[in-house]
Amino acid sequence: MSGLNNEADAHPKVIQTGFGKYTLERLPKSFKGDLRAWDAADELILNTLNSDYAAILNQANPILIINDAFGALLTSLHDNTAHSWGDSLLSQLASTNNLHLNQLKVTSHFIPATDELTKTYKLVIIKIPKTLSLLEDQLIRLKPYINPQTIIIAGAMSKHIHRSTLQLFEKIIGTTTTSRATKKARLIYSKNDLENHVTHPYPKTLNIPEFQLDLISHANVFSQNQLDIGARFLLQQLEKCPSAQHIIDLGCGNGVLGIIAQTRQKDAKLTFIDESYLAIASATDSYQKHFKRDPLHQPNFVVSDCFNQYQGDKADLILCNPPFHQAHAVGDQIAWQMFQQSNQQLNQKGELWVVANRHLGYHIKLKKLFGNCRTIASNKKFVVIAAHKRRF
Ligand SMILES: C[S@@+](CC[C@H](N)C(=O)[O-])C[C@H]1O[C@@H](n2cnc3c(N)ncnc32)[C@H](O)[C@@H]1O
Repeated sequence: MSGLNNEADAHPKVIQTGFGKYTLERLPKSFKGDLRAWDAADELILNTLNSDYAAILNQANPILIINDAFGALLTSLHDNTAHSWGDSLLSQLASTNNLHLNQLKVTSHFIPATDELTKTYKLVIIKIPKTLSLLEDQLIRLKPYINPQTIIIAGAMSKHIHRSTLQLFEKIIGTTTTSRATKKARLIYSKNDLENHVTHPYPKTLNIPEFQLDLISHANVFSQNQLDIGARFLLQQLEKCPSAQHIIDLGCGNGVLGIIAQTRQKDAKLTFIDESYLAIASATDSYQKHFKRDPLHQPNFVVSDCFNQYQGDKADLILCNPPFHQAHAVGDQIAWQMFQQSNQQLNQKGELWVVANRHLGYHIKLKKLFGNCRTIASNKKFVVIAAHKRRF
């Protein structure tokens, strides 16, 4: 038995389909070295397009690609002009990186999930996203930009296609069928033969009486139907936080940590960072709803992969409820990157406060990176830990 993950093979970085061979990398690059930047659903979509839709591909420009995880679709279909619509800055960066890696020109155009489409498409390719809410949002907003002739092909690993996934296509787009499974992946074909009758349910408002707060969440945003229990545990400790002139809510989602921190430290400058466009839109809306247009409170809202795109000031306090997965892949690489970069982004005496599941053992990571770590609070499931900037 080789120690390699099932998904890896002798050439784990080269995808080969009817459109040729391309080297592909994930972002962050450190994400479990044995995980590929594409899955069998990408291969099935590409091979089906190549065998059954070659003639249409020639006259369908621009094609619309939705939720291309790391650019496997965009790179393989680079002969076409493509519009790539998605919610992840990391996916956008990975797509560009993979085009460069294969010496291909970037002729595609990325449309953030917060932006509306503007033209009608003849061919739409969808990778089914992890959250049903994002799929619902995208199908409803796609509907005005397709006609009955538009070909819509969606793909995912079979285990991620549920009855509820197909019901969304049937309710919003029209007649929907699926392919047989190939390498545990399946396709969904949907025909736009329904009237446009579905109302868009986003953004949603979540009332949190204990903090007298209404949180606004656009589709795809973490914990939009209830306050995350880890976040609640961190919020309960906020009164113990050191006072800060500048607070960063890192991986802010709907902005709950930063907003409550602002209510406790009214004069602090706030920055909200997330790699999801819809998260940053949610944090902006939640913040504005709570503080109205108070000129005293003008936070920064930054779409950034950890601190990579952030160019603002260093902080005295960074609050973080880190992600524990990237789409369907579980791992702590992003949390690790957040911690490493936080150490660089803190002012002298600045502190990083993290809430996490106890079993993840993040106190060991923080101790390693910062040279110190203390437990602020713990319960059966969670710990809130803090580390101050490493002094050299
Ligand atoms: C566990 S959620 C926490 C959300 C919110 N802070 C809360 O406590 O409810 C983690 C957040 O990190 C964001 N995230 C994931 N990867 C990221 C990255 N590379 N850079 C910045 N944010 C990221 C996710 O979009 C998500 O909003």
